[in-house]
Amino acid sequence: MDAPEPDWQALRTRARAAAATSYAPYSNVTVGAAALTSLGTIIEGANVENASYGLTLCAECALLGDLVRNGGGQLVAVAVVAGDGEPLTPCGRCRQLLFEHGGPQLLIDQGELRAPVRLSALLPDAFGPNDLGARSQT
Ligand code: THU
Repeated sequence: MDAPEPDWQALRTRARAAAATSYAPYSNVTVGAAALTSLGTIIEGANVENASYGLTLCAECALLGDLVRNGGGQLVAVAVVAGDGEPLTPCGRCRQLLFEHGGPQLLIDQGELRAPVRLSALLPDAFGPNDLGARSQT
């Protein structure tokens, strides 16, 4: 079955709403994420900071929790925005996390003025689930 077509404006709106639920008392950088899944569902997440700083959870981490909690599926399209409403490109760690659930074809929003990019452009030659079986010595 073909992947559902993303409504980018709707995803950005949902991501902005998610950013309003962020817990970011240390950086004051609120971030929200919203994604379309292969099941046609929309999932969301917001960043959750921590007094130890390094344990901060990005919005994409919360997004993946929402994905698994709501029936799973593959990620088709993701929009991440900061509290100013503008797009934010996922950090390196989150690119790897997103790859697990979206693969190289996953579309990442670049805002209204630019075409979305594939995750493969942001994380080339990614290590993923298929590499585990292929490289296992057992
Ligand atoms: N942040 C995200 O939520 N996603 C990213 O991809 C980059 C950074 C958050 C983490 C932290 O709460 C704040 O932005 C500042 O780094």
